[in-house]
Amino acid sequence: MPEQLLLPTHGDQNIFKLGQIKLKGARNEEVKVKVHFSGINFADILMRQGLYPDAPAFPFTPGYEFSGEIIEVGATVKNFKIGDKVFGGCFFGGYSSELNVPANQVRRLADNWTLEDGASLPVSFLTAYVTLFDLARIKNGDKILIDCITGSLGGMCIELLKGIDCDIIGLTSSKSKIQLMLNRGIETYTHDQFYNNKSLNNFDFILNSQGGGTITAHYNRLGPAGRIVVVGASSAVAKGKRSLLKAIKMLFNMPKFKPVQLMNDNKGVMGINALRLFEMPEFLFERLDLAENFDLKFNVDKIFDAKDVADAHAYIEDRKSKGKVLLKWN
Ligand SMILES: NC(=O)c1ccc[n+]([C@@H]2O[C@H](COP(=O)([O-])OP(=O)(O)OC[C@H]3O[C@@H](n4cnc5c(N)ncnc54)[C@H](OP(=O)(O)O)[C@@H]3O)[C@@H](O)[C@H]2O)c1
Repeated sequence: MPEQLLLPTHGDQNIFKLGQIKLKGARNEEVKVKVHFSGINFADILMRQGLYPDAPAFPFTPGYEFSGEIIEVGATVKNFKIGDKVFGGCFFGGYSSELNVPANQVRRLADNWTLEDGASLPVSFLTAYVTLFDLARIKNGDKILIDCITGSLGGMCIELLKGIDCDIIGLTSSKSKIQLMLNRGIETYTHDQFYNNKSLNNFDFILNSQGGGTITAHYNRLGPAGRIVVVGASSAVAKGKRSLLKAIKMLFNMPKFKPVQLMNDNKGVMGINALRLFEMPEFLFERLDLAENFDLKFNVDKIFDAKDVADAHAYIEDRKSKGKVLLKWN
């Protein structure tokens, strides 16, 4: 029987329940996928802690991305057959060993991609692509700051920017990861080093994933016509159970921008919530097709058995991760 990881309510990493499910047949426009790998995203930690406004009511199963093998094809689906190796995106429910998912949300794996690569791709690729090219409109010569450079989103940004002649500076909260990033050719600082070094300024683009007061601090480091894209609120996250104090502090410190101020400052502030792009599936999934055009070097850091999901979440919350973390289904 298929299995699924359920969040019965909010809590620490041990709150997950692994259980068996009865899955219906694939509907006309769906395919059924035997999942090999499910991607873990930082948002899954926020929703496990009950801090993610867009999450369904408890109980629910998190998970936005997966890879695996097609085991059933809906009546109207023409472009897939049983046995195809695929990856794709889903609107929650991805922490499952089998999934029914609309066929337009699924893609065949490129010849040189593994199933691990596929499960690591959808969220970070789509977020990085829309952020860098649809919103920030990155061009040659841009000076760029990415404040979550060591994670899967930061890694994907580095990959997508490979063909553009730009300067990338990265930030991390872990001093121990600086050398790793220098080895990857990325000038990297801790957040403290960055805030204490006023000469690191005049950015054309800043990706802000921490939210709260860091948005104001980053805004002040933009150059003329500089733009920020806000992607997250990681400064609201404590390890384990949620800290309402941390979450409230993050919200309280969020700046409010007025159009006149932006006009006078010649700066732009934008945001992305990739999940909400599910409301515009053509926009979202036509971009997924572009992934094959990039010469992507994937960075899967660690794979945990699905039953060890608590360890996988703890690995991320302990800031040990250095790339994508996946769950494996047997
Ligand atoms: N808006 C969207 O649609 C969207 C989509 C994808 C990701 N995001 C956001 O982008 C950010 C990075 O995502 P990701 O997928 O790259 O994450 P990830 O791979 O899970 O990265 C985890 C890393 O985040 C850093 N981190 C920062 N604050 C942390 C905290 N409070 N607790 C634990 N780790 C923390 C740590 O790196 P260091 O040790 O280097 O600091 C940690 O190793 C997150 O804020 C996420 O919510 C947004």
